[in-house]
Amino acid sequence: MRAPFDTDTRPRKDSLRLTPRKVPQQPIVAPPVSRLAVQLGRLKLANPVLVASGTFGYAREMQAFVRFERLGGVIPKTVTPLPRKGNPPPRTVETSAGLLNSIGLDNDGLEAFIEKHLGYLSGLGTALIVNIAGRTIDEFREMAVRLDEFPQIAALELNISCPNVSCGVDFGIDPRLTAEVVSKVRSACRFPVLAKLTPNVTSIAEIARAAADAGADAVTLINTFQGLAVDWRRRRPVLGAGFGGLSGPAIKPLALRAVCQVARSVNVPIVGVGGIASIDDVMQFLVAGASAVQIGTANFYNPSLAERLVDELDAALAGEGCASVSEIVGTLQFPGDE
Ligand SMILES: Cc1cc2nc3c(=O)[nH]c(=O)nc-3n(C[C@H](O)[C@H](O)[C@H](O)COP(=O)(O)O)c2cc1C
Repeated sequence: MRAPFDTDTRPRKDSLRLTPRKVPQQPIVAPPVSRLAVQLGRLKLANPVLVASGTFGYAREMQAFVRFERLGGVIPKTVTPLPRKGNPPPRTVETSAGLLNSIGLDNDGLEAFIEKHLGYLSGLGTALIVNIAGRTIDEFREMAVRLDEFPQIAALELNISCPNVSCGVDFGIDPRLTAEVVSKVRSACRFPVLAKLTPNVTSIAEIARAAADAGADAVTLINTFQGLAVDWRRRRPVLGAGFGGLSGPAIKPLALRAVCQVARSVNVPIVGVGGIASIDDVMQFLVAGASAVQIGTANFYNPSLAERLVDELDAALAGEGCASVSEIVGTLQFPGDE
């Protein structure tokens, strides 16, 4: 069976088990909308479990493994105005409890995305959140204007945080530029706007505040951490591009810290992402302050995980006596909070 993602982003098969999901025969039974529905600024989602950009391809690759309509939303690979070849191989390497990648925003560009993928993605029966990246603020704005022609898109996620491209983190490491890109996109289109932030900064709360003040409907925390894998015998970096972005279980405590810091100091809905692989992870992010979550690296070895987590979340909330997701969001108490 073909793996559900392209070879460039595929972790090695020998150490990450890929278990294709059997397509179930029973009818689809959606969990009660009332308990799982969430609102992120102007964006309404049927449930808070999304799949993260760059880890779910353009969804076609995943159709044998997931009933898309069960997910809260799908976020395809970042789209840039023009095609990008991405970085030289190797582009991924496994590390302890994580994955280091330097894909470099390989994609066919905005027009090809509209022509080849948008129709399919908008028919999945779930919210489509299009993740975009420009090299300049004008490029972000122009992409938003073009995509505004397609009302089937539920929201835009601004990738101002990719560590693998030159200029990729420039916006997300500077509060002023973050604010400018968010407000220009917000005024250029009618979509809810999610600002996806980099953890490679001293104070992520400061950047989140700038995004919120500029009108972001939510902030997505976090993109990958810049890292390095070394082939010491060759005296070379393992990845073709040198540095890469670290994801997976290794970054979960760091992502939780970022979510918690922002939740405690900025009044903006948070979409938490980083190392989520189980229902306990989901609950930890919600309690720490996230209103929704994205599943990233885990999709590579368990493509049906996100769908399973929707059911498990419903059961976990019921077990806690919660009538809605919002009842558990941000309930983490630190010593001295009482
Ligand atoms: C192979 C790979 C490719 C990625 N590509 C993108 C991308 O195109 N755009 C983006 O915003 N984030 C991208 N990411 C970052 C993920 O969306 C996510 O923020 C990050 O991996 C942390 O979540 P995780 O630990 O659950 O993977 C990529 C991550 C991986 C592992």
